[in-house]
Amino acid sequence: MKKLIGNKRKNTCIFISGTGTNLKSLIKFSKKKISPISINLVISNKKNAKGLKYADQNNIEKKIVNFNHKNIAENKILKILKKKNIDLICLAGFMKILSKNFIRKFNGKIINIHPSLLPKYKGLNTHERAIENEEKFSGCTVHEVNSKLDSGKIILQERVKISSKETPKSLAKKILKVEHKVYPYAIKKIFSP
Ligand code: GRF
Repeated sequence: MKKLIGNKRKNTCIFISGTGTNLKSLIKFSKKKISPISINLVISNKKNAKGLKYADQNNIEKKIVNFNHKNIAENKILKILKKKNIDLICLAGFMKILSKNFIRKFNGKIINIHPSLLPKYKGLNTHERAIENEEKFSGCTVHEVNSKLDSGKIILQERVKISSKETPKSLAKKILKVEHKVYPYAIKKIFSP
């Protein structure tokens, strides 16, 4: 694996599938002086992902890669990443699971943001399950990506209180707001000496 140290900003690619509000916050962060990353590429598996507009608005190259044939899609992506010299992949609402092979072959770091306090509530419908289980808190986690779903090393977590009137929708909104702060912090943490 490439060493992610040194002064140069790390070439970063963001993977999205949907609204891309984390992409938006990461773009904002990447423009700051203190940012250790530059965002060089956005990849989406959906051609109509709303978040793609943030790539356009910021003149960031974007690629849409159809995942009907995962193997073909991943090989295509690996080639693009190599060409663009990408050091870091940030998954941000990317709804596909990357294969072991892809993770092994990518010569850099892959991180993800997940809307729960991992190891609790891996996978989908995190908010429904947290409320159903009468949890007092939920939150979000930035973690390294390994071959098991939502199970890599935890980089940073932030919790939010679940109120008595909480709905999955209100909790998702509350957590998403926190995600926009936590993801940049986690990236700073990875690259701080
Ligand atoms: C976020 O809640 C993220 O944690 C989850 O999917 C959502 C993506 O939101 N993996 P957005 O596309 O960044 O707005």
